[in-house]
Amino acid sequence: MARASKSGNFVCQNCGAVSTRWAGKCVSCGEWNTITEETDAGPAPGSGITRTTKGRAVTLETLQGGAAEAPRFSSGIAELDRVTGGGIVPGSALLVGGEPGIGKSTLLLQLTALMARAGRRTIYFSGEEASAQVRLRAERLGLADAPVALAAETNLANILETLSSGKRADLIVVDSIQTLWSDALDAAPGTVSQVRAATQSLIRYAKTEGVALLLVGHVTKEGQIAGPKVIEHMVDSVLSFEGDRGHTFRILRATKNRFGATDEIGVFEMGAQGLSEVANPSELFLGDRHSTAPGSAVFAGIEGTRPLLVEIQALVAPSNLGQPRRAVVGWDNNRLSMLIAVLAARCGISLAQHDVYLNVAGGFKIVEPAADLAAAAALLSSFCNVPLPHDRAYFGEISLSGAVRPSAHTGLRLKEAQKLGFSHAVLPATGDAGGGKGRLELTRLSHLKELADGIRPCD
Ligand code: TYD
Ligand code: MG
Repeated sequence: MARASKSGNFVCQNCGAVSTRWAGKCVSCGEWNTITEETDAGPAPGSGITRTTKGRAVTLETLQGGAAEAPRFSSGIAELDRVTGGGIVPGSALLVGGEPGIGKSTLLLQLTALMARAGRRTIYFSGEEASAQVRLRAERLGLADAPVALAAETNLANILETLSSGKRADLIVVDSIQTLWSDALDAAPGTVSQVRAATQSLIRYAKTEGVALLLVGHVTKEGQIAGPKVIEHMVDSVLSFEGDRGHTFRILRATKNRFGATDEIGVFEMGAQGLSEVANPSELFLGDRHSTAPGSAVFAGIEGTRPLLVEIQALVAPSNLGQPRRAVVGWDNNRLSMLIAVLAARCGISLAQHDVYLNVAGGFKIVEPAADLAAAAALLSSFCNVPLPHDRAYFGEISLSGAVRPSAHTGLRLKEAQKLGFSHAVLPATGDAGGGKGRLELTRLSHLKELADGIRPCD
């Protein structure tokens, strides 16, 4: 690789930072081998960067007036509407990110087909698959009859020309933004400058014409393809499609949303008929619970405004290693270390001679601190070899002092637990049940020690 520059910039393909010389490591994001040289051949076509010598005064407006609520249209997929904050906003740009093979193309094909059937004009530009492949998939999903306009195209100028020459569309899908290229730029497809230029042009078109734009963006760690980080700033919403390939469910999470909240999730299940919506995810996550074994506790969690019950499994086994193993799947490693330290310091239960494994069933990832109490219950249950009662759900955050702190949405959590047949909840001493108690028996704890005392077999 030529590392001496005569002209041009060195751009990090991970974060987009520009430097004047090549380096092995990007000083901005710390990634290795992500910096490549890009020569700038002037502004991208339609990027709007024109060099005029004199500016023009713009009219200044007030915050009042205008459209009170952004007009939206339903996507026809309730879980997607929930994540986008109530539907798709015309003229907005939405980025769907996710690992290869997670189901981005499937989701967007299903979406375009549904919208087309509902009478909206939709165009699907596939940069990754040939038209025949997309057609084959549509056929397999039973969507071949939907009047979607399809094109396999990666040239940005061709796409813009197609859009401006035909009838205005309601929804455009570009799968994926990393495959687009413009010959006005020297850089290879997938590099930051290409991706940025393509995104800019498409968003400008979408905003002026009031078309909803959905972009697919790949997430790779290798830095071969520009990470969608660069375009996250440009688009109105970023949805990340997550999931474990070993499991069938997929979670759509809004990480940025200019038109709604970002804490909602949509749950889908990938099957032979493509993605189907999961209206009650708790049932999915608790479906095959083997509750008679020690080390299993059910956590009553909240994702956005939706309660979600998941099983936390722990295995605590005597260790032969000098430094015992701690392995976590679906939860934060540091939180587990903290919990083990609190158990030792505040409850006198030392796991220093034990390997500890913690797993969130179904491949789900918990981010809430309220999972502490359920994780502690699972650990204690495995450590003492005492199964927890089958009908019990746990939630509550544990502080370093061992105190159980209140969690938000107590009522919602309790209602969901009751709905799924639980009869007993273990929760923080403070916090309003908000009418969620119902017929549930409640055990209120103020300190972790009380939980430990309840589980310890020999006491
Ligand atoms: P795809 O949408 O191509 O993923 P992405 O665009 O994110 O790379 O989906 C790929 C996976 O989904 C593929 O491995 C097979 C699986 N799949 C099903 O299980 N059922 C289906 O009906 C379809 C269309 C795909
Ligand atoms: Mg794809």
